[in-house]
Amino acid sequence: MGEISRVPLLSINPEQTTKGLTPRLQQLPMDHLLLVSDNHETVDSSTTAAMLNPREDYETGRDNSVQKVHFADLSVLGDNEILSTQPVAIKPFDVEWLATRDYRTAIKLNEGGHVTFEPIGFLRKEDGQGRNKICTITKFEQGVTSCDNILWGNNERQRPADSSISLTLGIAAQSLIMLHDRGLHHGDFQVKNTAYDITQQPRIIDLTSVKKQNDPYKFGEDLSLYLSSLSRYGKQTPYPTEEQVEDLFLRPYHDQIDNIFPHSKRQTMRKIIACLAININDVMNDHY
Ligand SMILES: Nc1ncnc2c1ncn2[C@@H]1O[C@H](COP(=O)(O)OP(=O)(O)OP(=O)(O)O)[C@@H](O)[C@H]1O
Ligand SMILES: [Mg+2]
Repeated sequence: MGEISRVPLLSINPEQTTKGLTPRLQQLPMDHLLLVSDNHETVDSSTTAAMLNPREDYETGRDNSVQKVHFADLSVLGDNEILSTQPVAIKPFDVEWLATRDYRTAIKLNEGGHVTFEPIGFLRKEDGQGRNKICTITKFEQGVTSCDNILWGNNERQRPADSSISLTLGIAAQSLIMLHDRGLHHGDFQVKNTAYDITQQPRIIDLTSVKKQNDPYKFGEDLSLYLSSLSRYGKQTPYPTEEQVEDLFLRPYHDQIDNIFPHSKRQTMRKIIACLAININDVMNDHY
């Protein structure tokens, strides 16, 4: 995805994403873009092509990822001119049902307010190794920062300011409260997958493993994985102290247990938190 590319453009309306989306994506030809447009507002019937202009500069402050997310300017083309341009993020998946789930989770999460990146469509493309990928396209949001940037930033060896540590831990607690309150388990909840917007409100990011859950231990896994990620999985001395983790992460979460969980699960959740609280250092250092 190194150069500007012109791609055929197809569109569907939001109702068509609630059923049969996976087979629709399976049929999407290589290098074709499928945009979800409300009443054909953004894509009218005469538009059949779009242009993707890679923007590597958008990557600054966004950790390189395994399943590499790319950033670009997406322009919708009319007969002779550019009709509109918007910055986007393009996230590749190996299989269509994962892209479908990612899309639907984002739509659901945003129903009560903007808490995750807004998905606008899909793209089929080959990755750098020639593997066939189905990608989701979300609106690029410059103002969202992932917490790895403030915890480790440019200089990994320098201890971050306490204000950065408390922002990081507070965002993590709030994000988990939001997700668990909706009955959702994140599944890959680590520092680099926590983020906040310019008003320092939490953003839920990386929805690849988000699932509906009932099992309190699954919710507990989100908490313990997060603690392990604070030391980069035992590779580094964690910057937050035990007290900071307890006061700014575990306690705020613990205080919401009655609001989040039904009676039957509260006791187990309290036990899980108590167990993590006793073992904060071991869990953080991945010796648990
Ligand atoms: N629409 C967007 N606007 C701004 N930043 C974005 C957008 N989509 C993704 N990002 C950023 O790109 C980074 C990688 O995204 P994400 O975590 O979803 O991908 P990933 O491939 O699963 O990453 P990893 O495997 O490293 O966890 C994150 O820092 C995220 O905030
Ligand atoms: Mg991620």
